[in-house]
Amino acid sequence: MSQLIIFDTTMRDGEQSPGASMNKDEKVRIGKALEKMKVDIIEAGFAAASPGDFESIVAVAQAVKESTICSLARAVDGDIDRAAQALKHAERSRIHTFIATSPIHMEHKLRMSPDQVVERAVYAVKRARNLVADVEFSCEDAGRSDMDFLCRVIEAAIDAGASTINIPDTVGYAIPEEFGHNIRTLLERIPNSDKAIFSVHCHNDLGLAVANSLAAVANGARQVECTINGLGERAGNAALEEVVMGIRTRSDLFDVTCNIDTQIIVPTSRMVSSITGFPVQPNKAIVGANAFAHEAGIHQDGVLKHRETYEIMRAEDVGWGANKMVLGKHSGRAAFRARMDELGIAFDSDQELNVVFTRFKELADKKHDIFDEDLQALVSATRSIDDKYQLVTLEAHSQTGETPTAELTLAVMGKEVTARSGGSGPVDAAFKAIEEVAKSAASVQLYSVNAITSGTDSQGEVSVRLEQAGRIVNGLGADTDIVVASAKAYINALNLLQGDNLKAHPQASV
Ligand code: KIV
Ligand code: ZN
Repeated sequence: MSQLIIFDTTMRDGEQSPGASMNKDEKVRIGKALEKMKVDIIEAGFAAASPGDFESIVAVAQAVKESTICSLARAVDGDIDRAAQALKHAERSRIHTFIATSPIHMEHKLRMSPDQVVERAVYAVKRARNLVADVEFSCEDAGRSDMDFLCRVIEAAIDAGASTINIPDTVGYAIPEEFGHNIRTLLERIPNSDKAIFSVHCHNDLGLAVANSLAAVANGARQVECTINGLGERAGNAALEEVVMGIRTRSDLFDVTCNIDTQIIVPTSRMVSSITGFPVQPNKAIVGANAFAHEAGIHQDGVLKHRETYEIMRAEDVGWGANKMVLGKHSGRAAFRARMDELGIAFDSDQELNVVFTRFKELADKKHDIFDEDLQALVSATRSIDDKYQLVTLEAHSQTGETPTAELTLAVMGKEVTARSGGSGPVDAAFKAIEEVAKSAASVQLYSVNAITSGTDSQGEVSVRLEQAGRIVNGLGADTDIVVASAKAYINALNLLQGDNLKAHPQASV
């Protein structure tokens, strides 16, 4: 059986989803969870994108020692050098450099001839190889590239020192049979293909990212690039959890094995969702709330009599239920701290721990059992303590036949301001009251509410996506009262808009 390398790009391609940006601390938390999951390679960002991205890669490289840490770099000197600098402290590092190879990208984006593209690819790989031992080369838009040209550029990149060759279906255009066939053709036709691992990176525009990745594995690919929850540019990337469980569950078809500790999947999915503000749809495979719920009586009956009648995987194998350990009103500081440690949440100071612990006690007064998801939400909320806008109080009123109203007090850089508004519902009224104070003129692009855990005393987790002058952010808020959760999410989004997180997009032309 051969080894399938799992390359996670949640913090790079995943971060390219609108509003999904993660700060340094959040990336370290995700990086540690991925390391615990035994992900082989973690693409922690695109070092040249912004000083913030650079610092985040440095921090992940310092915190994570078991997985290889990777930075993306376009095939230009500045990007490659910056990637190498960011990876200086990594135990194991990789530079992932790329250039587009499809006729449409070469002509319209790069304005380069095929010869120039080959020359640049070779140059970039050599430059990266002078800085780190492990270099991956990607042919951007390989899914729409000419086979003869792909063979030519890949052979040259391997000769120049690339030990991994990635074949991205950048625009999610491929169909599984065709994509698998293309991988096999490349492996067979390129004379030095045995000197590199062939990897795939599939986008989900046609809903085929996982199917294409698995077809590639069946045809010889030995690295899959994927993201937690399938996060990623546009319709996202192949979901790590689906790829991993696909090859595990159908080991009769796939002659590969991977290192992933599948029991860490669900907690990590929750963490990524709560950090990015991207909720997981209930019917999402593996990590959706309904993925292992058997509603119809006939199914339940079958499962109770003999589990395999309707279950092809065990919920506990992917981490459902591993999270059951609950804390409550009487849990002490030691139990609280121990659980936080297990969740990979570290505190910068005892003071920070005290603040979160106090909030935990307040929540425990309102809610009987505190789950891991509640703790994650508490930490996210507490880390926003220095933000420009803070919610002080909120009173919402709604009654059948009357216009709902909300009155709230916000602290704006410490100074309290009160506003009142009506709206089509209490949430709308609360948002309007916030806008009375903030006057951001941001537009709400997405609003969603999820119960963090089950039960009517569960906290509601609200995600609000705001757009302001072309910038998009996702705010998250959690509370047992969903109007309060909504206001917190809106305020969180406003605070994110204050930050200066302008970044270069790696796939824009240089
Ligand atoms: O989709 C893509 O082509 C990419 C590359 C940069 C690997 O994300
Ligand atoms: Zn991509």
